[in-house]
Amino acid sequence: MSITLIDLHPSPADLQQLVQEGLRRSPRQLPAWLLYNDEGSRLFAEICRQPEYTLTNREITLLELHADAIAAATGPGLVVEFGIGNARKVDPLLTALGSNIFAALDISYSALEEALSGLAARHPNTAMVGICCDHSSMKELPAHPALEGHRRIGFFPGSSLGNFTPEEALAFLRNARQLLAGGPLLLGLDQPRAPALMEAAYDDAAGVSAAFARNLLQRLNRDLQGDADPKQFRYRARWQAQQQRIEMALVSTQDQIVHLAGEAWFFRNGDAWITEYSVKYSPKAAAELATQAGWRIERRWEDPHQQMALHLLLPAD
Ligand SMILES: C[S@@+](CC[C@H](N)C(=O)[O-])C[C@H]1O[C@@H](n2cnc3c(N)ncnc32)[C@H](O)[C@@H]1O
Repeated sequence: MSITLIDLHPSPADLQQLVQEGLRRSPRQLPAWLLYNDEGSRLFAEICRQPEYTLTNREITLLELHADAIAAATGPGLVVEFGIGNARKVDPLLTALGSNIFAALDISYSALEEALSGLAARHPNTAMVGICCDHSSMKELPAHPALEGHRRIGFFPGSSLGNFTPEEALAFLRNARQLLAGGPLLLGLDQPRAPALMEAAYDDAAGVSAAFARNLLQRLNRDLQGDADPKQFRYRARWQAQQQRIEMALVSTQDQIVHLAGEAWFFRNGDAWITEYSVKYSPKAAAELATQAGWRIERRWEDPHQQMALHLLLPAD
């Protein structure tokens, strides 16, 4: 059993700059990866267990049902998973491909460590390489002997592409094409459905999604000497039809000044601090985005409720 971990997490100085830039924007918004510290990763795993959040189980079912067909379509290679989280999805692929090496990227070091030790126990003949990094603008894997000389197969499940704006998603897919060096990309995407169902999925009755958003303030207070009071913000998740996305935000419940990252930030009552988006992609929108980024969709596997699909992307030329 072998696990290698490479730490390329952005530095505290990078974090401070990102937060200052994000809080100067209107509306205020930081990169979604800041939601994932140790506690954020733990809360995300809990969100996946909420009855309203159906994506995880639907995607796992699709992967279990179609792993052999997917492996036949991709051919063998090094699976590179973007944002592995708690590693609930890649097992059927590793088994079907008979992989002897696997690489996982994630911004959360603790999630990566835990995910890879669980996977290594289940796949003792597969060497595990974890890279703690922000994959949003990554064009190359770090140089490491274990990663050399393999054909690459990208795996980006969880509809995480939807956390990017369309421009960021386009850039990510272009970069992934370069990083995968001619290899395919298996992309799991959520599809638009009834707004009430989508809003409930991101604002569960148990309040876990709200706690996940509030944890952003707690982590920033700790990491960047802040005094944001999570109780002075209410959580909101709403469908924005024009952009085909759920917008998640913390909304200030009063006029207040928050000190954070070395500056004072004024929030009026009702001002929104966007915590993340979840853009939904119809089959047509997914195909258009893939084409723009230099990919073509070779195959799709859709769940019977037409709520989510796995797309196998191949380089267009
Ligand atoms: C929505 S969760 C999905 C987890 C898992 N892939 C799944 O489908 O259940 C997103 C995961 O990607 C990681 N992540 C989010 N943004 C990232 C970024 N820019 N770079 C690297 N990892 C990121 C988070 O830490 C988290 O584990």
